[in-house]
Amino acid sequence: MNVQNAFEYLTGKKVYTYEDSVPSALQCASEAVVMLENKKGCLPLKENAHICLYGRMQKQYLIAGTGSGGRVNPPYTTNIADSLKEAGISLDTVTEEFYDNFVKENPYDSDNGWTHPWSQKEPELEQNFVAEAAGRCDTAVIVITRTAGEDKDLVPRKGSYYLSETEENNISIIRRNFAKVCILLNVCGIIDMSWVEKYGIDSVLYLWNGGMTGGKAAAQVLTGKATPCGKLPDTIPVSRDVCPAAKNYGSNEYNCYAEDIYVGYRYYNTFAKQDIAYPFGYGLSYTDFDITVNGCEDNGDSVTIRFTVKNTGSFSGKQVVQCYCRQPQGVLGKPESVLGGFYKTPLLSPEESCEGCITVPNRVIASYDDSGKTGNRYCYLLEKGDYTYCIGTSSADNTPAFTKTLKEDIVLKQCQSALAPVRGFERIFNKNGVPEKESVPTREREYPLPVLEDIPYSGDKGITLYDVADGKREMKEFLAQLTDKELCCIVRGEGMNSPKVTPGTGAAFGGVTKSLCEKKIPTMCCTDGPSGVRMVSDAKCFSYPSATAIAATWNEEIAEDMYLNCGNELASYGVDMLLGPGTNIHRDPMCGRNFEYFSEDPLLAGKMCAAVSRGLEKAGVSGVVKHFLANNQEQARHDVDSVISERAVREIYAFPFYITVTESGIRSVMTSYNPVNGKWAAGNPDLTIGILRDDYGFDGFVMSDWWAKISDDDGKGGVTNLKAMVKAQNDVYMVTPDAETRDDNLEKSLEDGLLTRAQLGVCAEHICRYAIDSLSFKAMREGYGAVDPKSLIEGKAPVFTSDVTDGKAVFNSESARRAVLAVEIISDTPALTQSDIQLIISTKNAATYTVGGTDGKTTTEYRIISLISGNNEMSFVSESDKVKVVKVQIY
Ligand code: BGC
Repeated sequence: MNVQNAFEYLTGKKVYTYEDSVPSALQCASEAVVMLENKKGCLPLKENAHICLYGRMQKQYLIAGTGSGGRVNPPYTTNIADSLKEAGISLDTVTEEFYDNFVKENPYDSDNGWTHPWSQKEPELEQNFVAEAAGRCDTAVIVITRTAGEDKDLVPRKGSYYLSETEENNISIIRRNFAKVCILLNVCGIIDMSWVEKYGIDSVLYLWNGGMTGGKAAAQVLTGKATPCGKLPDTIPVSRDVCPAAKNYGSNEYNCYAEDIYVGYRYYNTFAKQDIAYPFGYGLSYTDFDITVNGCEDNGDSVTIRFTVKNTGSFSGKQVVQCYCRQPQGVLGKPESVLGGFYKTPLLSPEESCEGCITVPNRVIASYDDSGKTGNRYCYLLEKGDYTYCIGTSSADNTPAFTKTLKEDIVLKQCQSALAPVRGFERIFNKNGVPEKESVPTREREYPLPVLEDIPYSGDKGITLYDVADGKREMKEFLAQLTDKELCCIVRGEGMNSPKVTPGTGAAFGGVTKSLCEKKIPTMCCTDGPSGVRMVSDAKCFSYPSATAIAATWNEEIAEDMYLNCGNELASYGVDMLLGPGTNIHRDPMCGRNFEYFSEDPLLAGKMCAAVSRGLEKAGVSGVVKHFLANNQEQARHDVDSVISERAVREIYAFPFYITVTESGIRSVMTSYNPVNGKWAAGNPDLTIGILRDDYGFDGFVMSDWWAKISDDDGKGGVTNLKAMVKAQNDVYMVTPDAETRDDNLEKSLEDGLLTRAQLGVCAEHICRYAIDSLSFKAMREGYGAVDPKSLIEGKAPVFTSDVTDGKAVFNSESARRAVLAVEIISDTPALTQSDIQLIISTKNAATYTVGGTDGKTTTEYRIISLISGNNEMSFVSESDKVKVVKVQIY
């Protein structure tokens, strides 16, 4: 932990500038580029080449997907057209002007701002227009974009997962006319690629969402300044219909994960190799490499393979060596192979070589027996037989390097059953390469809640959290002083845009009441994540490549470096936590939030997530790893039950969280919106106690997602059963408008003996332990504490009250001064839709409010604002016409 580092940024002793983030972000965006095709020497473009650039998005690079995980407001962005020009490429000006005019006449459609259309309207190109352009240059580069995000999955339709008719017609015309055609995919995740073969496209590059430096990174790769070295973090199938999850995706009620552990390449390689268009781990380079295995060691609990990689081509470049383990089928059945480890070389000049090694721990390739078939029920184990470790450059291209034979099954760990499905279903079982079905083992008991030592109320002994931090008093004594009310308040986060913390952020938590603050529990702050710091204000923050792009680099070091910078930036805003990284598995290409997540493979996802988390921790702030667990679909995301076998949970869906917990020292986890095996994740003890805490040894704090549902006692989902949340040690509910007045069942459950002080105390302890190591704690100790505006106006009458018409009000102030402003807002949106309102006073952003539906009632928000002397013209501006400020008061 390096809170000092964060503190120095907060206090301006060290100054963060965007320039700090550029080198690693640019390198990451360029290493993320995956080249799938490169025929006729199409790329790299020759120096000073003259090309024709197609696609309306050539000057509007998509830095991220949409929703909370993408809404970073960057100081600038780079686009493909301008970056190519800066790199010395000349663009056909007739075509360029044509697109400039088209975009002017057909501006970018951002729909409601929160979700955007998957694709934008493209012009219909005419044969003559393209033919003339082809007479001026021989290479056409086409930019295709796709976006999706929170609340908006891709769908298997034209213009979404598939090309639109216009896009396809345009490609066809361009192909007919140009000798060389290169297609750039500035996309949130994989899309249909059947057009590559159909139109014989020469070069195809996945750029993903590379953040604000992504356009520049693309130009570096196209011009050969950087050699592509990204590898696919997902399999690209020949069609959407063959995806292993396709048949069990898209329900509003529940999806059975019938493909079980056979996710992505695990499925295709085992049962359907013919359905792979581009394999997991695949990616071309401008240069060539030789890999020679030098030796292998069996270390008992792991295997190490040593090798030499030599650049045998004529460009400098990097290679990713990948190790896949082929396991015995045993009685459980296994995928054809699983990724056991990977190694990315440094930049190698032509003829240069380097030595590297990959160590594959047994735990990474272990199976989990949820049925008892092996005689070792609920154990991680290696079944007896041959384990062949193969080295290569993709899941489809690797050769055996070492085989070890186990004579007996090896049990690695005995667990307690947790999170088994309640609903029975048939899952896939590998019978010699044929997907047979077997019944999934169902739940036999609920996970036992831990027996806790009571924490009787001791009265106020004057012990503060400082005393605990200094080792003068025990945490237990401190917690015993918290009243029942305080214990109830501490598990309620406040937000969004809480006035108690940095404006425009996701939530305040910990010291959310006056009395908690008096006990020196800091008011901590978190904000989105994961693509950079998201603040709903006029603050500009660096936008980083998406998680999928990061995974495509297979470069842990760059991910860590990048997020060290992101952490420094976060600290400079006085924010403790970034709400990210997200490490859900890419179960299906349709999931809208895939761009926020890394990969279909749990090892790659876990390693990259751990690297990002380590970067943030190094900065002295922390990440919140989300969404635990199985948030694999946005449609009906608050209600759709993910029905998964315990084996698939342990081997696939929870595994990236395990790696992150054990390899990054992460201190916080966010549960998902959805129910998992019948219980909403925010109140699911099997999930948060059974797997996260008891199996993985996580001792940090867990928060819910924003306004998450929790199972009511009758099994339905609602937002008030915080008793169930606390019992599951999901420590904080995010978010409430006001912790003191929030109407839920905590106080009543305590009174009725359905919840104990000890259960609340465990959550409070997790929060306080986090607090002691937080930036806000240090800031508070050194006099940088947060102020609650409401506490400043207690007992005071407003000096100004006005109704707000058309979003406007004017207040004439006698002097320039700080004041508390109270505004009443009504919102006619569904309860969980986030709508932002900006308050502009004389052209400057003075405050931001985020509201969901208010059910016809008004909600009041308080902010400290700066008034100028004379007329203060207040305008409340929102992208949504459904939210309205109706009244203002100034104190
Ligand atoms: C998202 C979270 C996000 C939170 C705060 C929710 O809608 O699911 O990932 O961190 O909002 O913006």
